[in-house]
Amino acid sequence: MRSIGFGALNLDKIYMVDKIPREDEEGFVKDVNLFPGGSAANTIVGLSRLGVETAYIGKIGMDGEGKILAESFEEEGVGTEFIIRAEGRSGTAMIFVDESGNRAILVDPGVNDSIRYDEIDVDSARKYNLIHLTSFICKNGLDSLNSQKKIVEEFELVSFDPGMPYAERGLKDMEKIIRNTTVFLPSRQEIEMLFNKNYREAAEDCLSMGVEVVAVKLGSEGCWIKTAGKEAAVKPFKVRVVDTTGAGDAFNAGFLYGFLRGRDVEGCGRLGNLVASYCIQKFGAREGLPRKLE
Ligand SMILES: Nc1ncnc2c1ncn2[C@@H]1O[C@H](COP(=O)(O)OP(=O)(O)OP(=O)(O)O)[C@@H](O)[C@H]1O
Ligand SMILES: [Mg+2]
Repeated sequence: MRSIGFGALNLDKIYMVDKIPREDEEGFVKDVNLFPGGSAANTIVGLSRLGVETAYIGKIGMDGEGKILAESFEEEGVGTEFIIRAEGRSGTAMIFVDESGNRAILVDPGVNDSIRYDEIDVDSARKYNLIHLTSFICKNGLDSLNSQKKIVEEFELVSFDPGMPYAERGLKDMEKIIRNTTVFLPSRQEIEMLFNKNYREAAEDCLSMGVEVVAVKLGSEGCWIKTAGKEAAVKPFKVRVVDTTGAGDAFNAGFLYGFLRGRDVEGCGRLGNLVASYCIQKFGAREGLPRKLE
């Protein structure tokens, strides 16, 4: 079982501030915490913790943020040989949280959007049987998205979580990836935005485009799964919710773990809900990701 991720790499910097300043105002930082992230990266870390051999295709700058992002993969046992180091800034998200819990976020995509196909050692990457894709913001160009559209042809197994950035780009732009997707992992809002119809009907369209398994994330209602022969709603685990950041990424890790181990789709859905339930009981996207299941 081997899986490689391909998506953005971001360092989330959470600033606890006395207030979120308006124009011409000044606020003060009380504390800063750093959280390595990126949606596909979180999923790959989840898979690595569960014992899957993993690596990641992504781009970082030659800065301190990039060093932290690469080191976090090394600590998690995720292969970094496909990480591209470039001139420029690593992706960051500056998240300002005031005393009442209000948030303001500034995202710097940095070098994330500039991954050219010729920068990826595709032949070596193909030793991983499954490639997992999530969205790039595409604020600084389409190179990374275009590389994803091309690389999906090279893999037998492709999983794809569009996230809102790709859902907003529309079906025409995403068609190439979806047609090459084995396991499609959207949230309800994302699949309905992409297909402009109810998620159940949209899932039918996905199957006719060649997708094998559609798993729609339904937040506090769990998930709903559709294949050519089966349809199943899988109830979530009842847990005390602390922070839902990364719930969808954790779900993907659990679902794909089950898929790679040959579980039936309901079993995969339960594992997705289970790993997500661990994630949301802790603060941050990676903290709660389990090291073994059951
Ligand atoms: N309140 C909750 N109780 C139990 N499980 C939950 C709850 N909220 C989310 N989950 C679990 O997390 C999974 C993913 O959540 P959600 O549907 O919000 O994904 P998402 O919109 O992709 O999230 P993200 O913002 O992390 O990308 C759900 O399918 C479910 O298993
Ligand atoms: Mg999501």
